Order: sequence, then structure tokens, then C-alpha cells
Amino acid sequence: MKIFMDTANVEEIKSYVDWGVVYGVTTNPSLIMKSGRTQAEVIPEIAAMVEGPVSAEVIATECEGMVKEARELVKIADNVVIKIPCIPEGLKAVKILAAEGIKTNVTLIFSMSQALMAARAGATYVSPFIGRLDDIGVDGVQLVANIVTAFELYGIETEVIAASIRNIEHVEKVMLSGCHIATIPTKVLAQMIKHDLTDKGLATFLADYEKSKK
Ligand code: E4P
Repeated sequence: MKIFMDTANVEEIKSYVDWGVVYGVTTNPSLIMKSGRTQAEVIPEIAAMVEGPVSAEVIATECEGMVKEARELVKIADNVVIKIPCIPEGLKAVKILAAEGIKTNVTLIFSMSQALMAARAGATYVSPFIGRLDDIGVDGVQLVANIVTAFELYGIETEVIAASIRNIEHVEKVMLSGCHIATIPTKVLAQMIKHDLTDKGLATFLADYEKSKK
């Protein structure tokens, strides 16, 4: 399972890229707003920092506008992927963009039916939202697992990005489902490296090293 960062904060991305674990990045209008900058400012910087896909979301809600925005966004860098909401106009846009070789990430997916339709329209990626489903009492991790299983069953090549991740448990559970990618907020990524026994073990090793010095 590849690790993407779910943030538009360039400084945060920089520090984790140095760890060698971040392959791609996903953004959305809310994350851009939180970064305090504009999409036009951050996407070129992020695209230069990672090797893999960087999702930039369209604002238009009708097909023509989405396609127009997408064609501009992909000029920024080769690794820019167009994030499109899972609505009828969005699927139409995905079909047109796929025919032009433009990669898309269909976002705001909350059911297997939506995932299937996005994939059949030609989406490169689908993003089921775990945390927002958990919020309404639906098992988001199970939805990810079901989409992964169904895509495998039918030989669908669209990759699944587990999104709206809120904790380490979400990451570890989707990893077991065979999910292709998890897009992870910075706070959760920071927790993933931590374990008390690692800190205790290291402290003991260093103390014993000091004792063993002649
Ligand atoms: C990523 O593609 C999504 O936009 C993001 O994971 C949504 O997360 P949230 O539900 O925490 O806003």
C-alpha cells in the first residue's frame, strides 16, 4: 500500500518527503484553505516535491467547466491528477479526460455503486471516505475492503485510495484489505512511526553502550 499525504501544507510535506515514505499527495479545497495559500501557489510546489500523483480538485460542478479546469491544471506538471466529485457531470468529465489521457481521482465516494460507476467512466483512482462514513455510523473501512475485493473480482484496474483517514487503526485495517493507497493526514502519519517500546528499547541500548565503554 502506497502512502500519500492528505494535506496542502508544503512545509509538512517537505519534512515527510525526507523520510522517504511519501509517494503522492491529495488536496481538496478545504485543505487548500487551511494552508492559507491558493491552489495555483501550492500545487506546482507540491508536484515538484513528490514523485507520484498530486491530486488537485476542480471547482466547477458542470462537465464543461470541470474539463476546462482539468486541462489547465495538468499543464502544471506531469504528475498532477484531477480530482473530480462523484456526481453525474463529474462522470461525464472523467470519460472525456480519460480519452485525452488525463488521470482522474473521483472523490467523495461513499458506496460501492459510486465506485463502480467512477471506475467504468474511466477514473484512474477512486477515493472512498472512511472517517465521514464512520461519523454516520457506517463502517468506512469495510467499504474500502469491499471496493478492493470487487475491483479485483472484475479485473478493474482503477486504484483505490482510502481517504478521510482519522487514525492509525484506519490505516492498518485498509492495509490488510489490499487497498492500493492510503492518503494520510499529517497528524496520523506522525503517530505511525511512534511506539513506546521503540523509545524504551533505544534508551536501554544507549545506556548499555555507555556502560560497555572502556
Ligand atoms: C482526500 O482525498 C479527501 O479529500 C480527504 O481525505 C477528506 O478527509 P476529511 O473527511 O477528513 O475531510
